[in-house]
Amino acid sequence: MSLLIRGGTVVTADMEERADVFCDEGKIVAVGPDLEAPITAEVIDAGGQYVMPGGIDPHTHMQLPFMGTVASEDFFTGTAAAMAGGTTQIIDFVIPDPEQPLMAAYKDWRSWAEKAAADYSFHVAITWWDESVHQDMETLVMEEGVNSFKHFMAYKGAIMADDEILYNSFTRALELGAIPTVHAENGEMVIQLQQKLMSEGITGPKGHPLSRPPQAEGEAANRAIRLAEVIGTPLYVVHVSCRQALEEIIRARLEGHRVYGEVLAGHLLVDESVYDSQDFEYAAAHVMSPPFRAKEHQAALWKGLQSGSLQTTATDHCCFKADQKAMGKDDFTQIPNGTGGVEDRLAVLWHHGVNTGRLTRSEFVAATSTNAAKIFNIYPRKGSIHVGADADLVVWDPKATRTISAKTHHQNVDFNIFEGMTVEGTNSHTVSQGKITFANGDLRAERGAGRYIKRPRFV
Ligand code: URP
Ligand code: ZN
Ligand code: ZN
Repeated sequence: MSLLIRGGTVVTADMEERADVFCDEGKIVAVGPDLEAPITAEVIDAGGQYVMPGGIDPHTHMQLPFMGTVASEDFFTGTAAAMAGGTTQIIDFVIPDPEQPLMAAYKDWRSWAEKAAADYSFHVAITWWDESVHQDMETLVMEEGVNSFKHFMAYKGAIMADDEILYNSFTRALELGAIPTVHAENGEMVIQLQQKLMSEGITGPKGHPLSRPPQAEGEAANRAIRLAEVIGTPLYVVHVSCRQALEEIIRARLEGHRVYGEVLAGHLLVDESVYDSQDFEYAAAHVMSPPFRAKEHQAALWKGLQSGSLQTTATDHCCFKADQKAMGKDDFTQIPNGTGGVEDRLAVLWHHGVNTGRLTRSEFVAATSTNAAKIFNIYPRKGSIHVGADADLVVWDPKATRTISAKTHHQNVDFNIFEGMTVEGTNSHTVSQGKITFANGDLRAERGAGRYIKRPRFV
């Protein structure tokens, strides 16, 4: 089946032009004015709308087993919700338990993801170290299309990578042509503060941000950056949430180091006052790490994104329902960490980024799609509107409005961190592999239609 998107303005990270886009066999086959299409082609009338590369969310956790439970969103529901909001690819994470062989974990995640409706890739976390990990990293890079390895510098006693693991894994990643990524928080500082707060009787969600101060993130970001500098590897810092971590990235980049930073839509738009609520369910629903920060950090993050010090936007979509969050009713350290947003990232970034003048439309495309494709080496197959690229597209109506709510969203979770936010600008259509998967509110996601996308090593 072929598809013609007619009459819109194509926006890429480089340029804008009035052009039609013709897709066939899942690929973009022509971009230009007044394209002809076979009579059998489906047609989208994109008059008055923008046609952009589908969003790429480089940080999600579908059906993640974590903190004694499993994230409520699975690979089908999560990728379907993503497409309802214009995101056509996710990069999720394989997270082996300590001592679990990497390849065994990788196979588990690959099988769980077979039900995905949209395309997906995997970063693989390094949570422990021995000779088999060293070997399996090679297999993952050379045979399985994994070109990024994740390191959690927090979650001590579970999946935390200490400095020895970081050193070994960064070195190995560089040898293999893969990029290391880090969740930057000082895990020892966090655990000490958690114990102190609990012993002082601070047992509710308010303890969560108090136990994870910006200094814990800034210190870890600097440590990872300096290790990467000595080893000579590029580095990608996930979910940068505060000024301190941002400043470490800026400093390193000014010194000539290839350090990338990701910011979450949530960290740009939600502040730490959510933890002041006396309503446990509400406050716990916002428990994620790093936590939401004081407003001064949000202002810094926006500037980081505007200036190009932060290159990508993500969600860290990791959903837990109220009954799961209740596991930490008497002890905030037991509240499963994670919040959602995969469906809303594009709309909230458009509304608060483009409509406010912080981002141009091309900068929006770069920050929501193209930069992730480039950093993780799937450009121009993804993140572009080039002939030969995958036909993953979003048709964006800048005048349409919608009010975000858990009552109407497609995400499999009973809470939305953007609840009540009215946004101007949203997708009228989402196209994945040349097929319309969302049209004016009608979600047509197909279980299992998503493909595993290999990401070539850096040579
Ligand atoms: O709170 C979060 N972010 N949960 C998911 C795991 C992680 O740290 O990314
Ligand atoms: Zn994290
Ligand atoms: Zn995460």
